[in-house]
Amino acid sequence: MAYRGLIHKYGRRMAISQSATPITLFEGDTPLIDAPRISAWVGGGAKLWLKCEGMNPTGSFKDRGMTAAVTEAVHHGASALICASTGNTAASAAAYAARAGITCCVLIPEGKIAMGKLAGAAAYGAQILAIDGSFDAALELVRLAAERAPIALVNSVNPARLQGQKTAAWEIVEQLGRVPDLVCLPVGNAGNISAYWLGFCENSDRERPKMLGAQAEGAAPIVRGEIVREPETRATAIRIGNPARWLQAEDAVRESAGLILSVTDEEIFEAYHAVAELEGVFCEPSSAAGIAGLRKAMSNGDVDARERDVVCVLTGHGLKDPDSVFDGTPKVVRIGANLDELLRALASEAGVPA
Ligand code: F0G
Repeated sequence: MAYRGLIHKYGRRMAISQSATPITLFEGDTPLIDAPRISAWVGGGAKLWLKCEGMNPTGSFKDRGMTAAVTEAVHHGASALICASTGNTAASAAAYAARAGITCCVLIPEGKIAMGKLAGAAAYGAQILAIDGSFDAALELVRLAAERAPIALVNSVNPARLQGQKTAAWEIVEQLGRVPDLVCLPVGNAGNISAYWLGFCENSDRERPKMLGAQAEGAAPIVRGEIVREPETRATAIRIGNPARWLQAEDAVRESAGLILSVTDEEIFEAYHAVAELEGVFCEPSSAAGIAGLRKAMSNGDVDARERDVVCVLTGHGLKDPDSVFDGTPKVVRIGANLDELLRALASEAGVPA
């Protein structure tokens, strides 16, 4: 039968109201792509797979959690949703609210949201509110607001979010035909790493991957063991200094015998360009933190992944953040509109003999 979204496929294995009518945009079922060139780039002899979560309806993994959270909220009578967001949660909440015919308000840190995410939230008709403050401050505010006003909170502190997001672990096992040895992903508010671990634990008592979480160096509270008051990174999706699921992420890493580490913005951006140029897979900068973390862990000897299956989760689509592709202006070579100039440019710029 045709694919009809996560709740239709996995709803019975999700701790959500079983009689609720799914609010869905047919999220999930995203590609798991083998990646030989980026495997070689990372080094260490592992076999890498890319879980392309940017292929979800609003361009990020958030849709998995949002179908569950919005289904649950509407089932319990909600007529409005709220979230704090570095961008992707906002776009996703806005889309699912539109799908359900209810109101959505999003609270964002002003000036720190990639344009494609803001465009999504605006297009789906959300009320966008901005503060001069961090994601952490915004999350604190929406938590308080949801206690006072009749509005459902859909950040990953909402347990239904993890119920939806854990399905990605099951998809990986189905697509690979086995449990991978290592799963690498970026860590911001730490909901996703917690959800994957939940999914793998529910999948099997015995076979589970190690979890590798990567934080940006300027926003690495879990790695440093302390709240970061003013988190800073160009990977704005994970610019978070006090993750709501901090303890759960630490449990996932410890129980899986995995690790959490920090990577510099430079390392994140190297991985971001490499995966696009070597594999044709365009993710947003934050999404590449998992690959950058893996590469670092391999070269430090923190993981030995030779001949192992490693999945890197690419959490959001590159088109979310077009500005990050260019360091300044795009490299465009202007030519006259005639065949001679085109052939000459092909030879000089692309090495294609005339
Ligand atoms: N990757 C992307 C593209 C994200 O947007 C986020 C989080 C993460 C990774 C980290 O996931 O928070 O579960 O550890 N974005 C949130 C947002 C904070 O508001 O869109 P996490």
